[in-house]
Amino acid sequence: MHTINIKGGNILSGEIPVSGAKNSVVGIIPAAILCDEDVNIYNVPQLSDVDNLIEILNYLNVQVESKEDYLRIVPNSMTNRPIHGEFSRKLRASYYFMGALLSKYGHVEISLPGGCVIGARPIDLHLKGFKALGATITEDGDNMIIEANELVGTNIYLDFASVGATINLMLAAVKAKGKTIIENAAKEPEIVNIATFLNNMGARISGAGTNRIKIEGVEYLHSCFHEVIPDRIEAGTFVILGAAMSNGLKVTNLIPEHIYSLTEKLREMGVPLEIGPDYIIVSKPEKYNPVDVQTLIYPGFATDLQQELASLLVLADGTSSIDETIWENRFQNLYELAKMGARIKVEGERAYIYGPTKLVGTTVMATDLRAGAGLVIAGLIASGNTEIQNADYILRGYENIVEKLSNIGATIELI
Ligand code: UD1
Repeated sequence: MHTINIKGGNILSGEIPVSGAKNSVVGIIPAAILCDEDVNIYNVPQLSDVDNLIEILNYLNVQVESKEDYLRIVPNSMTNRPIHGEFSRKLRASYYFMGALLSKYGHVEISLPGGCVIGARPIDLHLKGFKALGATITEDGDNMIIEANELVGTNIYLDFASVGATINLMLAAVKAKGKTIIENAAKEPEIVNIATFLNNMGARISGAGTNRIKIEGVEYLHSCFHEVIPDRIEAGTFVILGAAMSNGLKVTNLIPEHIYSLTEKLREMGVPLEIGPDYIIVSKPEKYNPVDVQTLIYPGFATDLQQELASLLVLADGTSSIDETIWENRFQNLYELAKMGARIKVEGERAYIYGPTKLVGTTVMATDLRAGAGLVIAGLIASGNTEIQNADYILRGYENIVEKLSNIGATIELI
C-alpha cells in the first residue's frame, strides 16, 4: 500500500494537462475484443485500472502492445476463459467483459466485479438487459454464467440511467440480430466515446449522448484508430485545486462543456475562471460563497467530483450542503476532513459543511478513489504535513498525479 505525503500551503501555478478518461478507456479495452482485426487506441492514461484490464486481456490470450499513451489490441487468437475473482475483483469495469464476451462467444463465466465501496453497486439492470436480448443467467454465489445461442435485438428500458448498464448493453447488442433500443440510457460523454469507438469499427449505433440509443446489429467489426476523450473528472479535480490554491493555474487538454455543472458552481462561489476552447485558467478568490450542490446524472453535477468539491467548501464563508443522490456511501471523506479541522454534519444523503475553517495537516485515510482525490486537495490547502494512507485508490484514477502536482509547485511525494 502506498502513502501520499503533502506539505500544504504552497501557491500553485503553471500548466497542468489532463490525461485520457479512465471511465472511457475501461470500457474501450473490453470492447476491443469485439474487433475481428486490430485496434489502435491513443490518449490511453497509465493507470492501475488499465494495467488490470490488460492483465485480463493477457489471460484471454489477446495480443497487447503498449507504448506511452498508445495501445494496440489484436484479439484474433483469443480464447474465452472464465474471469474469476482474482481478475474481476480488482476493478469495477471488469464487468464490461460480460457484454463483450457474451456478444463475441454467446458464453461468459465471470465473478462479480470489485471497485470502490461507495454503495451497494448492484448489476441487476445489466442482467435484465442481457436477458431481454435472449441470454440466460445461472448464478452460483459470486460466480455467474451468462449464455445465449443467439442474441436478438429488442427494446430495453433502464429503470435508472446507469452508465455501466448502458455500456454493457451496447456491447452485448452490437452484433445481435436486428435492432436494439436502449431507453432511458445514460448520457455521459464516456458513453459517446465508447459508441464512437464501436462505430469506428463498423458498428451501427446512433443516439449516444441522448437517452435513446439505437443499435443495428452487424456481423463484422474491422480495424480502427480511436482516441480516448480527456478525463472530465481529473479536469474537474485540477480546476477545484486551482480554485483553492492558485493565482492562475491553466488546466489544459480538457473539454470545458463536460464540466459545465462544476464551473457554474465555482462561479457561484465567486471563483474567477477564464474558459478557453480546450483549457481553463482558474484562480482563488478573496472570499468563497457557500453553495448547495446536488449530484445528478450527466449533465448534472458529477458524483465523482462531489468529494473533491467538499474540500473547497471548507473554505467558504458560511454553510454549504451536498446532496448525494447517486451513491449511498459517499461521505466517508468528510470524516477524514473533520480530522483536519473541517466542521461537518452528515444527515443521511445530505452533508453540511460549515466554513470557513483552516485545515491542519494530519494522517488521513483514502476510503475510495475520489475521497482520496478530495484529501489530496485538502492536504494542499492545509497548513503542515498531511499523510494520506491507502493512496493506491488515488493511483487508480489519476495518471502521474505526484509528478503533475509537483510540476505546478506542490510539495508532494508517494511512498
Ligand atoms: C460509473 C462510473 C463511476 C460514477 C458512476 C455514476 C465507471 C467505471 N464508473 O459507475 O465513476 O460514479 O458511473 O456517474 O464508469 N444501479 C442499479 N442497478 C444496476 C446498475 C446501477 O441500481 O444494475 C444504481 C447504482 O447502485 C447507483 C446508480 O445506479 O446508485 C448509478 O450507477 P451507474 O451509473 O451504473 O454507475 P457505474 O457504471 O457503476
